[in-house]
Amino acid sequence: MMNIVTEVSAWRTIRKTLSHKSIGFVPTMGHVHEGHLSLCRRSHVENDVTVVSVFVNPTQFNQASDFDAYPRTVETDQAALREARVDYLILPEVKDMYPDAYQVQVVETALSESLEGKCRPGHFNGMLTVVMKLLNLVQPARAYFGKKDYQQYLLVRKVAQALLMDVTIVGCETVRADDGLALSSRNARLTPKARERASQWARLLKSGQSPAWITTQLIDLGFEVEYIADQWGRRLGAVWLDDVRLIDNVPLEMVSRGEQ
Ligand code: PAF
Repeated sequence: MMNIVTEVSAWRTIRKTLSHKSIGFVPTMGHVHEGHLSLCRRSHVENDVTVVSVFVNPTQFNQASDFDAYPRTVETDQAALREARVDYLILPEVKDMYPDAYQVQVVETALSESLEGKCRPGHFNGMLTVVMKLLNLVQPARAYFGKKDYQQYLLVRKVAQALLMDVTIVGCETVRADDGLALSSRNARLTPKARERASQWARLLKSGQSPAWITTQLIDLGFEVEYIADQWGRRLGAVWLDDVRLIDNVPLEMVSRGEQ
């Protein structure tokens, strides 16, 4: 049975009853897809109890319109999470997550400055602040993050270590659609035509060609390219297709093998 908890105070009471259990935690912003469910299933195997949060975090969005347009699908999310044998679903409210009106922030000053951080000023401050709050609330043994958001995964791991938090940050492989596109809640906003074109993005990123060549190809196909860069042993990139921003990355060994 999956318990749904909306009050932070109620969760704190429940948490006290779980002190002898290992907890696996999967933080999400909802619109649950197979990528999230694979994290939940892994948590289920590795822990006594699996906790998922769904919280569309306003402080990590650069535009209010993007926050407003973020898909919210509470009913179907609950059904999918139940199916994945999640034990607790936490649905906190903004006022409970930000009693300080976001006057207190978690800021990392090196890794967060490049790539995503450069393109989305303030995004990582918002993300890190909410993730550290959630980790404090849930106090898991392990927390699971998809490697699709590779820079996010590296930052969460670094900051949790820096803050001496007793948690293992587990990075999990990206789950892809049959045509190679990385699963993301934002894919739901692609028109059918754009969704078809989006598969070229995944194909080109791992094509083994140079970032400059890939950029030219993508522009010809109608993408706007924010960056394609090789860092941290990965090839990472961000593009816009119509009004939707897509990010992805692949290991550099895969690029050098020119895998299709
Ligand atoms: O990756 C996400 O969905 C979000 O950035 C996260 C980790 C749930 C924090 O809001």
